[in-house]
Amino acid sequence: MKRILLIVGGGIAAYKACELIRLCRKAGIGVKCVLTEGGQHFVTPMTLAALSENQVYTTLWDLKDEAEMGHIQLSREADLVVVAPATADLLAKMTAGIADDLATTLLLATDKPVLAAPAMNVRMWQHAATRRNVAMLRGDGITVLEPDEGPMACGEYGPGRLPEPEAILAAIQQALGGDEKRLAGKHVLVTAGPTHEPIDPVRYIANRSSGRQGYAIAGALAALGAKVTLVSGPVTLPTPAGVTRVDVETAQQMANAVAQALPADAAVMVAAVGDWRAEAADQKIKKDGTPPRLDLSENPDILAMLAKSPHRPGLVVGFAAETERVIEHATAKRERKGADWIVANDVSGDVMGGDANTVHLVTAAGVESWETLPKSDVARRLAERIADAL
Ligand code: CTP
Repeated sequence: MKRILLIVGGGIAAYKACELIRLCRKAGIGVKCVLTEGGQHFVTPMTLAALSENQVYTTLWDLKDEAEMGHIQLSREADLVVVAPATADLLAKMTAGIADDLATTLLLATDKPVLAAPAMNVRMWQHAATRRNVAMLRGDGITVLEPDEGPMACGEYGPGRLPEPEAILAAIQQALGGDEKRLAGKHVLVTAGPTHEPIDPVRYIANRSSGRQGYAIAGALAALGAKVTLVSGPVTLPTPAGVTRVDVETAQQMANAVAQALPADAAVMVAAVGDWRAEAADQKIKKDGTPPRLDLSENPDILAMLAKSPHRPGLVVGFAAETERVIEHATAKRERKGADWIVANDVSGDVMGGDANTVHLVTAAGVESWETLPKSDVARRLAERIADAL
């Protein structure tokens, strides 16, 4: 049986957590609840205990619970941690890594995927601080659902209502991945991030790739049970759960690491590989009044090499970062590089480093344009499509 740890925050929507527990139990999902201090003003531990048929945890400072089951264990024994309702305060603490009560301590200590269903006043949801926190949490790989729009308990109208329990259950079931790990036994190679091409020991040529889309894809593939090798350029992201990461700096190193990681059933080349490298000086280039000339040569095209290789994975997916005529360029790139699919994105906005992505999937069959989605959702949808294809 799949199990969730449900953290119930302090908001009027806490009453909907009761219905959520009932639906989860009906769907065969085990539920253990943590009720925050604020949450106890809206629902009682007794209600949650009766519905979940489990003990409810409310405090970090309970010697009996700590002796019987430490809070670290509580954060790890579930398959998924669900925060519903996730208040603005809880989201802010999660973003900052604050651990000042049982709920926030568990959220910091867990090594399991986390799904948050926000509920708050519309102004709080739209506040720059909350926008920033949600973007950062999503960047950290946490699934933050969009709240519903409608009349609110406080009398205002807008986005901020807790999604309906049925919708939260569907997100939970998706996050739990059902019982079938659709990519079990498959090896998928992912490249992500930028490359750094040294000019001298202290300077390099780089690009704006944050690695977030590639990391999200690696995580989504691993969540479907794939063995994932993530060849990563220099980024500041945590390695997604279940992913084997190989760190590289230059395009040449990335090409070597990709060759080493073969054979693979599929490859998803998300890295923004530097197209050129400089002849790197051994010592720091000194300023002497004449700016130095950079002697550039072209880097190997890792995607094109992989597509032509005798060890070519069955499915080769490339990305195309374009600033104009996106589909036209991507379609040409698919043919030129010998990829099966190209995921094309328009990088003329703030996609690089941003949270959302608008992509077109270009295959031999044609072009599919996806609506603008958080990068985590683009990743999940692409991982499902890869599972369909393998
Ligand atoms: N790619 C690669 N090796 C390179 C350059 C790109 O593997 N040396 C891969 C990227 O990981 C991506 C795809 O090729 O999957 C497209 O990258 P992009 O930078 O959009 O294409 P370019 O080949 O650089 O084409 P252009 O600069 O003409 O747009």
